[in-house]
Amino acid sequence: GPGWSPDRRIVLVGPMGSGKSTVGLVLGRRLGLQRLDADDLFVTQHGVISDYFSRNGEPAFRQAEEEVIGEVLSRAEPCVLSLGGGAVLSAQTRDRLRHGSHVVYLTVAEDAALARLNGGLGRPVLAGDPGRTWRRILAERHALYREVSQWTVDTTGRSTEDLATHIIRLV
Ligand code: S3P
Repeated sequence: GPGWSPDRRIVLVGPMGSGKSTVGLVLGRRLGLQRLDADDLFVTQHGVISDYFSRNGEPAFRQAEEEVIGEVLSRAEPCVLSLGGGAVLSAQTRDRLRHGSHVVYLTVAEDAALARLNGGLGRPVLAGDPGRTWRRILAERHALYREVSQWTVDTTGRSTEDLATHIIRLV
């Protein structure tokens, strides 16, 4: 789009199962940009997320997540960055997203998200009743996703390649 300049990064936000990681991979490849996934960076630095959660609790996870993301957002190089679903809970991260980022909110229907989420495996925040919890979490975060993003793209029933084409035209 007219706002695109190669010195900016593209950041994907949205709930678990909205396709942030897979769309990020294809976008990075198609744009020739480095592709980063905040969950993967977290795992590299701190180990498996569910283990970190059970050892240290969610507040410690959010703090460490905020630092991992802050480090990436402080870099000047353009990239495609997929964030974890709860990254927008951090006011500091929301604030950092205001500068130098094209932020796209990926939405998805509940059924499609749950089908992608493998019963919530590896997602400690979905423990218990994944469907009910996913809905509640989205209700809590929807306004935050809207606040940080310039575009909203529904991923339900669309292929990753099609979504990447759409987003490249948009941003
Ligand atoms: C979380 C989402 C996960 C991961 C962690 C917590 C959340 O990322 O960061 O399990 O609170 O929504 P994905 O959105 O990539 O699954």
